[in-house]
Amino acid sequence: MSSLWVRAALRGLLCSPLDLGPSLCARANSGGYPWPRERTLVAVKPDGVQRRLVGDVIRRFERRGYKLVGMKMLQAPECVLAQHYKDLRTKPFYPALISYMRSGPVVAMVWEGPDVVCASRAMIGHTDSAAAAPGTIRGDFSMHISRNVIHASDSVEGAQREIQLWFQSSELLDWPDLHSPAHPA
Ligand code: PPS
Repeated sequence: MSSLWVRAALRGLLCSPLDLGPSLCARANSGGYPWPRERTLVAVKPDGVQRRLVGDVIRRFERRGYKLVGMKMLQAPECVLAQHYKDLRTKPFYPALISYMRSGPVVAMVWEGPDVVCASRAMIGHTDSAAAAPGTIRGDFSMHISRNVIHASDSVEGAQREIQLWFQSSELLDWPDLHSPAHPA
């Protein structure tokens, strides 16, 4: 009889939601960040998708601890590309760049974390693949600037503009980051 009671009490303890107290719960669910929230647009370009590099790119950003808040695969519309690359319109490589970006699907992502704009530029490496350091995405996977696998926003303002261009706000998820090393314990 008493062992039955003990087992029932244990089951009750294990199966009921833990009450962590108001302060812990408030912190875990507050969505508060110990750093200014920064987001960037990263896009695996058509050559990166063709070469099955999407998983590798995601793995690198996740391993670093950045938080994925939006992702989609799409055939980039001409109007989005024209807007995205509007400052390059007069460059001789512009038509080739647009046709390359239209040659297949891209995977667009929004990553969040402290200084993610600057850090993601370091992670992808130099625009010109020949100058990209080994260990960077372009340094590991690309040998020519015209097929450089990946895009990442080059400034905080640019990131905000590009995220709005590629994503509806409803496509970005503000999920609580409970396990980040940067989250207060
Ligand atoms: S520039 O010329 O300094 O304004 O260009 P840069 O900032 O280095 O690169 C801007 C984007 O243009 C792409 N690019 C090219 N694509 C195809 N062919 C050539 N020759 C070429 N040169 C630059 C470069 O990859 C950048 O694209 P994103 O998507 O931002 O990486």
